[in-house]
Amino acid sequence: MHLGKVMVVFGTRPEAIKMAPVIKELKKVEDIQTIVAVTAQHRDMLDQVLSLFKIVPDYDLNLMQKQQDLYTITTGVLNGLRDILVKEKPDLVLVHGDTSTTFVAALASFYERIPVGHVEAGLRTRNKYSPFPEEMNRSLTGRLAELHFAPTDTARENLLAEAVAAFKIWVTGNTVIDALLDTVRTDYVFPSDFPRLDFDRRLILVTTHRRENWGDRMRDIYEALLELTDEFEDIEVVFPVHKNPIVKDLALKMLGGRERFHLIEPLDYEPFANLMRKVHLILTDSGGLQEEAPSLGKPVLVLRDTTERPEAVKAGTVKLVGTNRQAIVREARLLLQDQSEYEKMAMAINPYGDGKAAQRIVNVIMDFLYVRIGSNNKI
Ligand code: UD1
Ligand code: UDP
Repeated sequence: MHLGKVMVVFGTRPEAIKMAPVIKELKKVEDIQTIVAVTAQHRDMLDQVLSLFKIVPDYDLNLMQKQQDLYTITTGVLNGLRDILVKEKPDLVLVHGDTSTTFVAALASFYERIPVGHVEAGLRTRNKYSPFPEEMNRSLTGRLAELHFAPTDTARENLLAEAVAAFKIWVTGNTVIDALLDTVRTDYVFPSDFPRLDFDRRLILVTTHRRENWGDRMRDIYEALLELTDEFEDIEVVFPVHKNPIVKDLALKMLGGRERFHLIEPLDYEPFANLMRKVHLILTDSGGLQEEAPSLGKPVLVLRDTTERPEAVKAGTVKLVGTNRQAIVREARLLLQDQSEYEKMAMAINPYGDGKAAQRIVNVIMDFLYVRIGSNNKI
């Protein structure tokens, strides 16, 4: 029995990593026709993930421009998706998380009166400008969505507080854990062209990209890294630099060519995830790393003032330190000097999922499509 057509839309690296397990599960269901449309808000960083998970998009808007801004992404996604939605008329559009692709794909679907399923729904900081524009992207997507796949109970509570009906919310776990468990292996061998890192030394993994950190805040973060490598001679920094020129130019200017700094291109997800398992400490402003690192038992210092992922902070494996240079140095120093403080944070915990989130999501989608057929396509 043909249940219907589901269109999965995404555009950036983290969305692709977290949607890959959902696409894999959807494709196992013969009664569902699955269509993948990428906006390519990211290009190379997206393609790295598509090739790892062997995803061949049915549509590719190829939107990325070197100097894109929020206006060009927004209008590009909206105009680009219109004809695809009109032609394909999917029964459900699935979007992920909080990027501009996410929100605008949900908006375009609404304009076509197509129901939206929101994967990783309900994350909130309650600060409109932090992270920017993600907090508003995910809130607005939540207003537009019909099905809300909340990764945790906290996310569910956030949605209930916004008067989303309880029967439209499912707590599924986060699909990033599905992707991670599929990718990290104890016998993993790094590829021959992998940067030469000394795994006997204490490696600090760094990633940065958040818009609200651009400029002085990012300068402060990089100065803190310089101070830390001056103070601790046995540490090395491994920093896969985001492709965004605003991030890349400053990182190269301040840290490029320095001793014990490995500034490298963004890594494919497989070596990156396996590298996380081998490092001593993680400093990041990324969202995804806050979910992955706790399950690998790696302490994370979050270079932001707010987090929409409070679960690991509560459990003690993630600490919110902000972007102040002294604060970063103080918190990192504590972990580098004091073994008991380090061990307190280095516990493997799994508040974000058990690796079966995608299965749960697809079960809900099957029920939704089935009921929709019965109710004559009304939503
Ligand atoms: C975007 C998302 C952010 C998400 C992040 C994940 C928005 C507004 N921002 O931020 O929510 O957390 O992705 O990384 O949706 N670039 C490349 N190649 C790539 C990717 C990016 O060259 O593969 C460069 C381009 O010059 C591009 C720039 O990075 O113009 C910025 O990309 P954009 O998607 O606008 O913003 P991000 O900071 O990556
Ligand atoms: N990641 C990767 N290669 C890298 C850096 C990060 O594959 O060089 C992965 C990481 O494991 C996580 C995701 O990319 O799953 C996070 O992406 P990013 O920090 O760009 O976005 P955010 O999660 O902050 O939206």
